[in-house]
Amino acid sequence: MRRKLLIAALVVLCGHIAVAQYNPLIIPDTISGTTFNLALRDTFKQFLPGNQTITGGINGNFWGPTLIFRQGDTVHMNVQSYMNDSTTLHWHGMHLPAVMDGGPHQIIPPGTLWQPYWLVKNQAATYWYHPHLHTMSEQQMTMGLGGFIIVRDAAEAALALPRTYGIDDIPLALTSRSFDATNALVYVNRHYGDTCVVNGTLHPQTTLPKQYVRLRLLNAEMERAYNLVFSDNRTFYIIANDGGLLDAPVSATRIKLSVGERAEIMVNLGSDALGSSVELMAYNAGQEFGFGGGEPNTTGPFGSLLNNRNFNVLHIVVGATTASPITSVPTALVTNTYPTAADATVTRTLLVTDGTPGPGGAPFQFDHVLFDFNTINKTVVLGTTEKWTVINNNVFGHAFHIHDVEFKIVSRSSHPVGAYESGWKDTYYLQVNDTVSFVAKFDDYADAIHPFMYHCHFAPHEDGGMMQQFVVVDHTGVNNTEKPAGDYS
Ligand code: C2O
Ligand code: CU
Repeated sequence: MRRKLLIAALVVLCGHIAVAQYNPLIIPDTISGTTFNLALRDTFKQFLPGNQTITGGINGNFWGPTLIFRQGDTVHMNVQSYMNDSTTLHWHGMHLPAVMDGGPHQIIPPGTLWQPYWLVKNQAATYWYHPHLHTMSEQQMTMGLGGFIIVRDAAEAALALPRTYGIDDIPLALTSRSFDATNALVYVNRHYGDTCVVNGTLHPQTTLPKQYVRLRLLNAEMERAYNLVFSDNRTFYIIANDGGLLDAPVSATRIKLSVGERAEIMVNLGSDALGSSVELMAYNAGQEFGFGGGEPNTTGPFGSLLNNRNFNVLHIVVGATTASPITSVPTALVTNTYPTAADATVTRTLLVTDGTPGPGGAPFQFDHVLFDFNTINKTVVLGTTEKWTVINNNVFGHAFHIHDVEFKIVSRSSHPVGAYESGWKDTYYLQVNDTVSFVAKFDDYADAIHPFMYHCHFAPHEDGGMMQQFVVVDHTGVNNTEKPAGDYS
């Protein structure tokens, strides 16, 4: 409230009523090539008038650079931590050896350099990276540590899609934060922010060209699900899910994204008047389409002013058309071959259960088993196609995420599988009274020692122990090393 009054006062003083309430949307810098230098720091940012806010930065002061990978390259990361606390950096959605994954086991102590490297096998899509230090993920992500990964490949490059980064191809990390009276970020018992933050920008506005633009949407929240809509309810086209392009664009007026999920959409601004504006909005955040149960409606310790409301995410002003605009949506994109339930030779079931509250205080578990660093919960044989069914009869919704693979959802009990989750996925929303089955092939990387994680991507649930781990072993059951021969130069 206090800062709203301050901003209002500023607006009156400056007399730019329509403009002064917005900040220009930050477009993260990019790093491309095969060597990526990332410096992690405890730092600060002027979010609000008055005190600076202590933040966590990667090559900056809140939300890191966008890493552009080319499929087929071997990428080398130099992750240098200057932080006071240990951390980890996880490459969410990347298919890579478990020791390179940056999960809770690959701890980066203060003052050290971590140098993972891997062959980029993922398809063109939007991925991201973030800390994954057990019990500390929410705190470190709240401070601003994280960033986008964009993978490019030949199939995507052959399509007439907007791909000029920051011009007609815009990454949008959607999240929210709460600030205390000293402008410090609040993360203890505050999982739903009161202020929308996009790419580290409060109250963002951006000018986009009068033509088709591509938005790379990431829900980078701690717990809140979004149902995104444009203020005039216009139709847009979903072109990609978490791990790749769809076979063909799917028209929609809404798209649901729970925590950790990504989608790429194309929206036409070509019929808008120059200088006009449209809002990207979160519709009834958290509640529509059975999202309910996941978001308390209060403004108490776990609630937020934004819950269960419509709120503006991004103010878009329509600017001049670029020199070579994309003027239509392709009728077809790529040819995906998805695994089917019939391909699965192993089936597994996971039950979301109430549990003993863990260090983060969230009383949710899988199969009544709390995360334990020293327990391998599942063993997968390299090359196997498996069907996993996750059952949620819990009082709360959850965002299920598994490392190592992109999977295909083959059934959902609560409603038909929507376009927004019909392609390659690594994370999905599991609403109350829902059972979701997915099929994945566990390929390429076996390592009997180093596990991959699966967990709820709601940060307080993950921190609280709603996480387990699996290893992928080759047919001998022996560690065949994390580096298949011939993959690395
Ligand atoms: Cu986005 Cu296990 O994480
Ligand atoms: Cu959860």
